[in-house]
Amino acid sequence: MSGQHARTPLIAPSILAADFARLADEAAAVEGADWLHVDVMDNHFVPNLTLGLPVVESLLKVTDIPMDCHLMIDDPARWAPPYAEAGAHNVTFHAEATDDPIAVARDIRAAGAKAGLAIKPGTPVDPYLEILRDFDTLLVMSVEPGFGGQKFIAEVLPKVGIVRRLVDAGELTILIEIDGGINTDTIEAAAEAGVDCFVAGSAVYSADDPALAVQSLRNQAAAASKHLAR
Ligand code: DX5
Ligand code: ZN
Repeated sequence: MSGQHARTPLIAPSILAADFARLADEAAAVEGADWLHVDVMDNHFVPNLTLGLPVVESLLKVTDIPMDCHLMIDDPARWAPPYAEAGAHNVTFHAEATDDPIAVARDIRAAGAKAGLAIKPGTPVDPYLEILRDFDTLLVMSVEPGFGGQKFIAEVLPKVGIVRRLVDAGELTILIEIDGGINTDTIEAAAEAGVDCFVAGSAVYSADDPALAVQSLRNQAAAASKHLAR
C-alpha cells in the first residue's frame, strides 16, 4: 500500500553466541534489543545440545526483553507449551519435528505465548502456507540449525518473498523472522526480501558493544526496507 510506512525492523540477539556462564550479564549487554533469542537444542533434532526450560525460567527472571525461544527439538507437542507457561513471548518449533503443527501452536497460544513455525533451509514453505493462519511467527532458517557462526544461505530468501506478498496482500498476518548468518553483509538482502525480525548471534556478541551492534543492524535493515510498501 503506498504511503504506508515500513515497520521498524526487530532485532533478536541470539545468546547462543554469548557466554553461558554469564547469561544475565549477556542479556543486559543487549539492552534495547527487541527480542532475546534463545536456542534450545536436544541433540536429537539437531546434532548439538544447549539449554532447556530451567535455564529459560532463570533467564526470564533477570531480563525484561521479550524472550524468543527457538526449539530445535523432537516432540514439540510435549516440550513446547511449558516455555509458554514459563513466560516466553514467542515459542517457535520446527515444522519438520511434528505431524500436527496446528495442535502445538494452539497449545502454545493457550499457554499465553505467540506461536512460531520454523523451517530449515531445505524445507519449502508452500505446504505450510495454509496453516500459517494459526501462527504468529514464521522463522525461516538461513543456515542449517545447530550451530552459530555459519554462512548465510541466500537461496532461502524467495521463501520470505512468498510470505511477504501474502502478508502485504492482507491474506495473512504473520511476522517473518530470519535466523542464521545475519550480519552487516547479509541483513540488507534479507530486509529487501521482506523480513520483519532478524536473529543475530555472532554479529552481536562478537562486537565490542553488543547493544550498539543491535542498533546498527536495526538501522541498516530499516534503510534497506524503507522503499518497500508495507
Ligand atoms: C542456529 C541458531 C541460530 C544461531 C545464529 O541453529 O538457531 O539462532 O544462534 O547464530 P549466527 O547469527 O551466528 O548465525
Ligand atoms: Zn535460532
